[in-house]
Amino acid sequence: MIKYKASKIKLLVGISKSQYNIYVCDICRSFGTVPVKAGLEVKMSDKEVNYLLHFYGSSIMHSEEFRQAMKQTHHNKTTVGDHSIKVARASIKICRVLNKFHIKTRMDDVVIGSLCHDLGILGRKHSFSNGRECLKEHPVRSLDVARRLIPDINYNTEKIIRCHMWPIAPFRVPTSRESIIVSIADKYAAIGDGIMRKTKAAELHIKSNAVISYGPH
Ligand SMILES: [Fe+2]
Ligand SMILES: [Fe+2]
Repeated sequence: MIKYKASKIKLLVGISKSQYNIYVCDICRSFGTVPVKAGLEVKMSDKEVNYLLHFYGSSIMHSEEFRQAMKQTHHNKTTVGDHSIKVARASIKICRVLNKFHIKTRMDDVVIGSLCHDLGILGRKHSFSNGRECLKEHPVRSLDVARRLIPDINYNTEKIIRCHMWPIAPFRVPTSRESIIVSIADKYAAIGDGIMRKTKAAELHIKSNAVISYGPH
């Protein structure tokens, strides 16, 4: 069982007086750099987004469940894993914009919730008898998977996963900032999944130097 630990990624040093942080992932041994901005800027580079994604979500992205998610087709043109990463990236950007207006958000909850929100869809053909059942039940199954991956998952993150289908499934209403953010990001990503060409998120990360290895290790 893989346990979530923020400490799995070590922030090693700040060079040139906190202009850059070098980080290394204990799991895949990859490393990268991210510029440390003096003030809060709304615009985020791919590197910054990847850094935060990796920092909070590395253990999930390296789990066996997420490997399976990278293989299962979702929204016809993408995979569950690619979609989840897209939701996490969009959520991180929304958090940044809100932070600019001094609206505080828990980015760790948002990233973990985003990455786990659709893991309950894995094996959909065998797990659900029809689309309606899948729509209603997959958030609950996703929550089970998330609890397995992160035994000390907090209530806020659970709420993000449980309520992410709102407003398509109106019976579980998001009531926290973070759960509303992920619900919106999920719909945004789903629309993008439908109209955009299939792009592997993993390839994007590797290209932008925030390496995430999905190979065997
Ligand atoms: Fe979903
Ligand atoms: Fe989703």
